[in-house]
Amino acid sequence: MPEYFVVRGTVESGDKRGRELGFPTANIALRDQDGSLGDGVWAGWVRRADGTHVPAAVSVGRRPTYYGADGYRLLEAHLLEFTGDLYGETLVVWLGSHLRDQEKYSSAEDLITALKNDIATATQWTLAHPATSLPPVDESPLGEVRRLTT
Ligand SMILES: Cc1cc2nc3c(=O)[nH]c(=O)nc-3n(C[C@H](O)[C@H](O)[C@H](O)COP(=O)(O)O)c2cc1C
Repeated sequence: MPEYFVVRGTVESGDKRGRELGFPTANIALRDQDGSLGDGVWAGWVRRADGTHVPAAVSVGRRPTYYGADGYRLLEAHLLEFTGDLYGETLVVWLGSHLRDQEKYSSAEDLITALKNDIATATQWTLAHPATSLPPVDESPLGEVRRLTT
């Protein structure tokens, strides 16, 4: 049975570096700072407040490239084929496939290369796992990580 981690959360403003890198992210604070959801990069889906689903490459962790090991742990979703402002919107994020661990890259270029690869893999995964196959979620507290099976 496919297993998903699901988080509901309101998009907070990041430090806008994502936009500079060419990969803007919707940042969501995690309540569960050390719980069952490990750090890493995931393929998944985001449901917007209007009910539409958008494929995503999602990072969970402390961004060791920029903040070292003691950075603030957060979830950052890069929505694929999407432009627009999500600030303040409450999203539901399904994490479906763990792609890799968080890495400390020695340059922005190396991070960008990894991100392009993540996006290609996440695209393939979302094509094979359409939004119609996602397990339903109820109104969980913001930032709380749930584990669901289909
Ligand atoms: C798919 C994806 C994978 C990422 N992987 C890493 C990683 O391995 N190491 C890292 O330090 N940051 C990683 N990041 C986080 C970026 O460093 C972060 O998005 C960028 O610094 C922008 O931060 P901001 O939204 O606060 O501006 C990843 C982000 C995404 C969307």
